[in-house]
Order: sequence, then C-alpha cells, then structure tokens
Amino acid sequence: MEKKFYLETFGCQMNVVDSEQIAGLLEEMGYEPTSIPEEADLILLNTCTIREKAERKVVGHLWQFKPLKESNPELIIAVGGCVAQQEGERLLEQLPHVGVVFGTHNIHRLPEMIQNAKKGRRSHEVAFLDKESRLRLFPTRRCDGSISQFVTVMQGCDNFCAYCVVPHVRGREISRPSTEIVAEVRRLAENGTREVTLVGQNVNSYGNYLPDGLSFAGLLVRVHEIPEIERIRFVTSHPRDISDELIKCFADLPKLCSHIHLPFQSGSDRILGLMGRGYSRRAYLDKVAFLKRVCPDIRLTTDIIVGFPGETEEDFQDTLALVEEVRFADAFTFLYSPRPNTRALNLQDETPGVVKQQRFQCLLDIQEQISLEVWAGDVGKNFPVLVEGESRQGNGQIFGRTVWNRIVNFNGGSELIGRTVPVKIIASYKNSQLGESVKI
Ligand code: 5AD
Ligand code: SF4
Repeated sequence: MEKKFYLETFGCQMNVVDSEQIAGLLEEMGYEPTSIPEEADLILLNTCTIREKAERKVVGHLWQFKPLKESNPELIIAVGGCVAQQEGERLLEQLPHVGVVFGTHNIHRLPEMIQNAKKGRRSHEVAFLDKESRLRLFPTRRCDGSISQFVTVMQGCDNFCAYCVVPHVRGREISRPSTEIVAEVRRLAENGTREVTLVGQNVNSYGNYLPDGLSFAGLLVRVHEIPEIERIRFVTSHPRDISDELIKCFADLPKLCSHIHLPFQSGSDRILGLMGRGYSRRAYLDKVAFLKRVCPDIRLTTDIIVGFPGETEEDFQDTLALVEEVRFADAFTFLYSPRPNTRALNLQDETPGVVKQQRFQCLLDIQEQISLEVWAGDVGKNFPVLVEGESRQGNGQIFGRTVWNRIVNFNGGSELIGRTVPVKIIASYKNSQLGESVKI
C-alpha cells in the first residue's frame, strides 16, 4: 500500500511555492497526498513566523498531532518553513513527537531526513546555503494546467525593516536568471497557464547582482512576449525601489494587470524612519500619483502596521489620512508584533495594548467602508474575466478574476475555463463579486 503524506501550508506565496516542491519530492519517494491527517504516514507543516500569532498557531497545531504519534509510533512529523528556520533544534527539544525540522534553504535535504526519521533518528537542518547552491535549487512550478500560477523570480530580502523577521528566516536576497524564469513561464503556458504572478519579497530589486543586468521592468517585457500568457501580475513591491521604468510598464504592457500591491506600513514620516523603510509619506504619495497618471484605472492594495513602538496618536492619524487620500481597494492591516532578532525590539513601546487595539479597529472600519465603496462601484458594469475553474461553492457556477484580482462567480459552462470573457457585475460582497455572462 502507498504511504500517505498530509501537508499543510501557512503564510505567504513563498511557502505555497515551496510546498509544491516538497510535495514533488515526497511523490518521488512514493508517498501520495491525503487531506486527512489521521490516515497519513507523514505529517508535514510548512510554517510562517511573520507575526507571533502565526507562530503560536503552528506550535499549537503541532501539539494536536501528538496523540496520533502516540497511537502510531511509525508516524513521522516534519516541520519546515520559517518557524523551523527560526527555532531549529529548539523545536525538537520542545516537541518530542516531531522527527524532522528543516529550514527554508533545506527542502532538498528532506528525503534523507525522512529516511533517518524512519530509523528513529530525529534531525534538524537549518543552515543557509551559498549563492550557487541556492540558484541551482531554485523552486520551479509543476505544469498542472492551472490557469493562474505563481512563479518565483527572487528569494530572500536585504532590507531588514526594523519589525520584519523575513531577512532572518529567508536569508539574503537572490534573483533567479531571467532565462530560467522565461523558460518556466513558457513551459507553464504550453500546459494551459494564462496568467502568471511573478513573486519575490521585493521584486523591484530583481536583478541586483545578476550578470545580464536586466531590470524587473525588462523581465516583465520578456514575459509579456510569450503569446499564450494573457495576464501578468507581480508581488511584492517596495515603494522605495519601484522605478519610473516599472511604473511606465502599466501604460506600455497591455497584459500587465492594472493592480499593484504597494505596502506603505505607516503614514507617519517619523515611524517610517524608525521602521527603516527608506521613503517618506510624500515620496509614497508621489509614486501613487504617478501610477494613477500612467494608468488611470489602476487599483492599489497595501499592508499597514498599527502600533509600531512609539506610534503616537498623531502618527496614527497620519496613517488614517493616507488611507483616506489613496482609497486603497483593499488593505491588509496588522497589529505590530515583536519578532526575534529584529531591531524594533530595542525601541521603547509605551502605548497600552488597548489603545493599539482601538486604533486597529478604527483603521479596519474606515478601510472596510472604502473597500465596500470601491468594489460596489463595479456593479452594473462589464469587465473581462479570466475564468479559472468551477466555483468553490459547488453551485454549478464558474469563477474567474477581473484585472483587479477580484473573484467573480457567475453562471457559465466549464468550456470557458482558460478564456477571458466579458462579465457584467451584478453584486459586490466583502471578498468576491457576482456576475452574469454578457452575450457577445
Ligand atoms: N508585526 C506586524 N506586521 C508585520 N508585518 C511584517 N512583520 C510584521 C510584524 N512584526 C506585515 C507587514 C508586511 C506584511 C507581509 O506583514 O505589513 O508587509
Ligand atoms: Fe520584511 Fe521589509 Fe523585506 Fe518586506 S522589504 S520582507 S517588510 S524586511
């Protein structure tokens, strides 16, 4: 009988891509996937540590698997990703039922570590790799015919923003050669993919230290040339590094979707300085104005941190004012969470938790209203939707996305999957929209 693995992924797109790599390795070892942990021979969590809550969730989850290990001593429990990278051997000490701990650069070591665990040898590997090995082991996507796929263009981050654990758990920034990226997108396109999202922690610094000198904008042009690809997106951009050349791509490259995720984190210059973000409120707003000028229908989304150490009421009001000025289509808002090894740990933080919580709720309410208004403005209008599959509600509908990355559910046949069709938006909800087919 085939051995089974249960794999759960937390966190960002990087982990999603890594999990696919992990699943591929396990399948080569003869394991097949299962969605039921109780029937698995191998349980694997690919973890996230961006905020304390994410980390606690993972550790809590790992404890839940302890009884399974007790009733089946052969069961192997493995932990990968950012919590594994951060905690390393400590996880093995803390969680006696865990047998394998592998870091963000050590996915390729998994098969051997699993073999060791089978022989009762628990192990951890969390060493960062050198540049050559990382380039050789860059994660690639499986051509499974998905209409929309993530493609990794760079890994790691050199920014060391004061609050952020990413550079500590993902390592230094490294870009993948453009020839490989283009070849991968071509392969995906030949197998049915129509939309690619180029992913990296800070895609705007793509190409630093690469010999061919191609910028991220240059890379977009190359991907744009692939005929079967109809839509291109990218995440995440750093406001400091987004170049005029890249902004102009929104005017020059019709396949580039008119949506950008541009985290501003705080609207206060003082807090931005403490965070080490490398731009001012004015500089951010200037970039937004330029984006709106070259691409009038562009919609922005963002990330915001509330309650960074030393944030005053005035600083917070600056954040609110920026949110009201830009009118983001969506915002991911976070309460500041102290992370190991980050510079912000050394800053004075006197704001009481309840005050931070009130600010957070206030921001949430304001943004929710703006988002509602932005998306409700689509009702009654027709937009092209790239159809991705059958609706998750299982009600016979199909779903796709508008260029702004909003999910639209509508009545239609599965023959439309992979095609871009005009859809009239008839209702707008918190996370999706309802549409109806438009006769052409
Ligand atoms: N506390 C709160 N939010 C954080 N983020 C990153 N680190 C922290 C932290 N320590 C948020 C930032 C980032 C997003 C991915 O997570 O807004 O853009
Ligand atoms: Fe973290 Fe800043 Fe790098 Fe983004 S740019 S991953 S927030 S250090």
